[in-house]
Amino acid sequence: AKIHMHRWDVRYEFKSPDCYKKLTITINGKSPGPTILAQQGDTVIVEVTNSLDTENLAIHWHGIRQIGSPWSDGAEGVTQCPIVPGDTFNYRFVVDRPGTYMYHAHYGMQREAGLYGSIQVSLPDGEVEPFVYDYDRSIILTDWYHNSTYEQAAGLSSVNFVWVGEPHSLLIQGRGRFNCSMVTDQSVCNVTNPECSPYFLTAVPGKVYRLRIGSLTALSALSFQIEGHNMTVVEADGHYVEPFEVSNLFIYSGETYSVLVKADQDPLKNYWMTTSIVSRNSTTPPALAILNYYPNHPRKPPPTPPPVGPAWNDVAARLEQSRSVKAHHGYIHTPPPNSDRAIVMLNTQNKINGRVRWSVNNVSHDFPTTPYLISMRKNIKGVFDQKPSPDILPGYNNYNIYSVANNTNATAASSIYRLKFNSTVDVILQNANTMTKNNSETHPWHLHGHDFWVLGYGTGKFDPDEDPQKYNLVNPIMKNTAPLHPFGWTALRFVANNPGVWAFHCHIESHFYMGMGTAFEEGIEKVRKLPSKIMGCGRTRGRKLKTIVK
Ligand code: C2O
Ligand code: CU
Repeated sequence: AKIHMHRWDVRYEFKSPDCYKKLTITINGKSPGPTILAQQGDTVIVEVTNSLDTENLAIHWHGIRQIGSPWSDGAEGVTQCPIVPGDTFNYRFVVDRPGTYMYHAHYGMQREAGLYGSIQVSLPDGEVEPFVYDYDRSIILTDWYHNSTYEQAAGLSSVNFVWVGEPHSLLIQGRGRFNCSMVTDQSVCNVTNPECSPYFLTAVPGKVYRLRIGSLTALSALSFQIEGHNMTVVEADGHYVEPFEVSNLFIYSGETYSVLVKADQDPLKNYWMTTSIVSRNSTTPPALAILNYYPNHPRKPPPTPPPVGPAWNDVAARLEQSRSVKAHHGYIHTPPPNSDRAIVMLNTQNKINGRVRWSVNNVSHDFPTTPYLISMRKNIKGVFDQKPSPDILPGYNNYNIYSVANNTNATAASSIYRLKFNSTVDVILQNANTMTKNNSETHPWHLHGHDFWVLGYGTGKFDPDEDPQKYNLVNPIMKNTAPLHPFGWTALRFVANNPGVWAFHCHIESHFYMGMGTAFEEGIEKVRKLPSKIMGCGRTRGRKLKTIVK
């Protein structure tokens, strides 16, 4: 196995990904940042220098389980203290499985300021995938706001709540197009800027392309489509999928898919690739990219209008596609037939101290200033709420998920769930009505440190007697992110076998910021000696000093 060493300098620079000039967080001058390429079993070392000058930093390796290296997970407040300006921090981890993963900032709302990129892990020499293709490409889809993350965070956390609103643009691999005619100062928005020329993928007629698509949107659920071409879904979050064909791929923030696309259409023209918003009635226009048939000019716009995405409110179509993602028949990891513990997580929107928050079982999550991994491993007392979050909301049976949430007894707390090491845990995510009448949102939930089996998706209220009978225990897909559909439920199962403390949260940046998350602790006593590089904040500071004084 090889060691891959990367040196990253992270700083703010002016960039125009959608033609509109904005302060963007870059890695070595780029956003998206460099793609990490490695082979299964390799070690990746990323030496990150925080040159943001006035801002802390942490980077998460999304989908990498960090077995034996929980301090490299990059979840600020959970596994490490933030990297302060001017400091250099080494992330070191093993990529133990092939597949498509991503990385992104995990401090405040920094992710949506541009710090993200792809991780591609290939198979060991001599092993092959259960599908064939000629070329491999990867793209990340994001949404993009012109206002700063500070402005957004201040609005979300103020008593006079200001919602972030719909994004200004969607980006395909860091490229989109804002309508500059809406901006008076043309020096701020310039459509001829090469930074915002559309992404293109050049295809040789007759060849098959593996397109690895990831989403790291701040808010939006997306549909992705290629004019005149179907896509065969073959991988999801690093696991092989029993192939199925789609004309549009629904993808939620935190998910990755590989699709196969055959360049078998009229080779005399180019084709549109587009992504558009679903699940919200958004005003944001779709993003356009070009599938370029060689030898046409890659910037030649297709002569036809871009394909229109599916209706934003067609929940049934999205639910159906979620259900279609099953493990490939040759690669089934059978889940344990029963669980040791089931946690029903009711997702609600509430007001706490006059502020709009998201809660799970009436607990809206606040991160402690001392990361859980450090306080629990080193037994530093009194840094987070010891009372565990409830496994089910008291009064859940009588809770009407279709009525406007009125959970006046919700609280903000830093409590988490402690799991018995090696136990099998079910998490049933239950959606509900928000504080707006007849409204329920899509929440993509992401688990750090594990993959979970997706046992089922349902509509309405989860029935603890009937619904588990319908769980797919035969060929459920394993994933690290799964959507919770409006007014529905999603059932997940995982084995708590990775010593550490792991974040579990909605991958929508503003929802997470408003408390929509928690963490799981398991086998903390099995975690090896923590590296001192992760310390320096909160109550870890005094301890470090003490050792030095000794
Ligand atoms: Cu991709 Cu905790 O996030
Ligand atoms: Cu959410």
